[in-house]
Amino acid sequence: MAELQEVQITEEKPLLPGQTPEAAKTHSVETPYGSVTFTVYGTPKPKRPAILTYHDVGLNYKSCFQPLFQFEDMQEIIQNFVRVHVDAPGMEEGAPVYQYPSLDQLADMIPCVLQYLNFSTIIGVGVGAGAYILARYALNHPDTVEGLVLINIDPNAKGWMDWAAHKLTGLTSSIPEMILGHLFSQEELSGNSELIQKYRNIITHAPNLDNIELYWNSYNNRRDLNFERGGDITLRCPVMLVVGDQAPHEDAVVECNSKLDPTQTSFLKMADSGGQPQLTQPGKLTEAFKYFLQGMGYMASSCMTRLSRSRTASLTSAASVDGNRSRSRTLSQSSESGTLSSGPPGHTMEVSC
Ligand code: BEZ
Repeated sequence: MAELQEVQITEEKPLLPGQTPEAAKTHSVETPYGSVTFTVYGTPKPKRPAILTYHDVGLNYKSCFQPLFQFEDMQEIIQNFVRVHVDAPGMEEGAPVYQYPSLDQLADMIPCVLQYLNFSTIIGVGVGAGAYILARYALNHPDTVEGLVLINIDPNAKGWMDWAAHKLTGLTSSIPEMILGHLFSQEELSGNSELIQKYRNIITHAPNLDNIELYWNSYNNRRDLNFERGGDITLRCPVMLVVGDQAPHEDAVVECNSKLDPTQTSFLKMADSGGQPQLTQPGKLTEAFKYFLQGMGYMASSCMTRLSRSRTASLTSAASVDGNRSRSRTLSQSSESGTLSSGPPGHTMEVSC
């Protein structure tokens, strides 16, 4: 294992009104594939895994996860966990240009982070490339992963058709536009909302655009994760797959769901959320995350608000009627009806939000 070295202590966490300050510390460690920077919020809780996040291409931990982790209802969840937010190499400010690691090598850097922090298990939350990296890490280190929330995961390597389309797009589009097309749906991009303008601006004017392009290239050169239902190569922990109902990766996530163990996998397809549900629907994602943690035996209803408790009670009692976790669960949300439902297709359990 390469020498682990802390080189930075920075970061201030913006506080919500009425919230007590929580320590946030940024560290860098050397790994066999270069240094990796990560920011730790909160303090380790005995007998609880750390929540470890990994962001998508074109973003960093803040631009990818801040709206979710600073969402008001999220506070009662995350106060029970220490959080480790990894920045892909070269995404932190002033980062030099690299011989960039492959996604598999980025996954292989995670043990150095955990060793440095002396954390033994995690619940991973990843988006896009970050979801792939955490899934690869879980395949290699299943004993250290208690659960995974994988948003917009595409577990497949690009086929030749994808490459042809990618090359064609590259003839007419800049790298930032290609990355925006990976992050957001065409409808969102043409709608040009404030959110799109904000993220277009962040990516187009990023001082580290060269490094972003390297992370993008690693993503496009990813290997197939080769999941097979019932086979040796599969995720063994509880998994919540999340995708927006018009997201660019909808088909890939649906296919991924079909390849994972249905007794361990929940599939959340979110209405009206576009390509980045953690940015556009943090409330619904927070609620689904709460149920996910409850299913893993964390977040007892006694430590939740009265509203959440009543929602959860109706879900868990309905779930116990269903009997067990032996079937695939589909969670689908509709912002119009304001409902969150959970259950196997044709046997839907529903709770009102
Ligand atoms: C957190 O509390 O874990 C957090 C705060 C700000 C940005 C991202 C995460």
